[in-house]
Amino acid sequence: MTAHDLSTSGQLPEAQLPITVREGLDFGLDGDIPRHWFGGDPFKTRFFDAMSTLFPEGERFFIACVRDYKDQIGDPAHKQILLDFARQEAQHSKVHNAFNHRLSRQGVKVDKILANQRRNLFDIARKTLTKGHTLAITAASEHITALMSHTFVENRHHFEDADPRVRAMYVWHAVEEVEHKGVAFDVMQQVAHVGYWLRVWALLMVSIQFPMFVFQILNHMLKVDGFNRWQRWGIWLKGLWWLYKPGGLMGPLLRPYLAWYKPGFHPWDAGAPGEFQTWMQVMQQSGDPIAASDALQPRA
Ligand SMILES: [Fe+2]
Ligand SMILES: [Fe+2]
Repeated sequence: MTAHDLSTSGQLPEAQLPITVREGLDFGLDGDIPRHWFGGDPFKTRFFDAMSTLFPEGERFFIACVRDYKDQIGDPAHKQILLDFARQEAQHSKVHNAFNHRLSRQGVKVDKILANQRRNLFDIARKTLTKGHTLAITAASEHITALMSHTFVENRHHFEDADPRVRAMYVWHAVEEVEHKGVAFDVMQQVAHVGYWLRVWALLMVSIQFPMFVFQILNHMLKVDGFNRWQRWGIWLKGLWWLYKPGGLMGPLLRPYLAWYKPGFHPWDAGAPGEFQTWMQVMQQSGDPIAASDALQPRA
């Protein structure tokens, strides 16, 4: 059966990893996590903190944009995939919301960031763009999260200095982003029949807007931390070098990022990182996401 046949029957290809909904995990986020939990480095910490503030509303938007098509999928097994995708994203929102409360208490204007995002995603995008377009934005965003998940897990030496609790939250999120990385894409291709150029346009827009929001929020957080203009300049220079230097955090993202622009691209072309097997084994044995994430660290 070809991909086109699949689309006419409203069915989706099988995912290569099962989507497992994990609820009620304890990351110990109520504990005494240092303000700059990533090796004492304000830029590294606030880079990930800024992403955390974008997740809850972003994931609510992804769920809504995929759900727009649920009635066009007849097969109960594939309806279940959509449901599990939504349940995973809802858990991510919940845990990041809890994490973001910490940031609010530090003085970060989390409520304002969330309100701004709600306006952009729900009052503007969902009301002015077609459902196919918002689904393409969702699939493109999921491409970014999946490739970050792959690359960060494969290059985990970067995270040696991170607080094990926060790192565990991100590793869990990364595993589940990979588990469901094909869902929005398959609905976009097989059910919504979004064309190639809209798919390309969506990723180009996401590639500009996502880092722009992250950097704006990061800068706000550095101000909240009390760094003056000159100190922030130094932090930014050092931080951008950490991100973009040869062998830096962003380098390995480029090739998987560009894969999206190949006409025949599919998220599962890249498979899943082998490290996930270790994570899943330890999770199964211990039920402890911190132990599972620590098992991936080089010195484990
Ligand atoms: Fe997520
Ligand atoms: Fe996702």
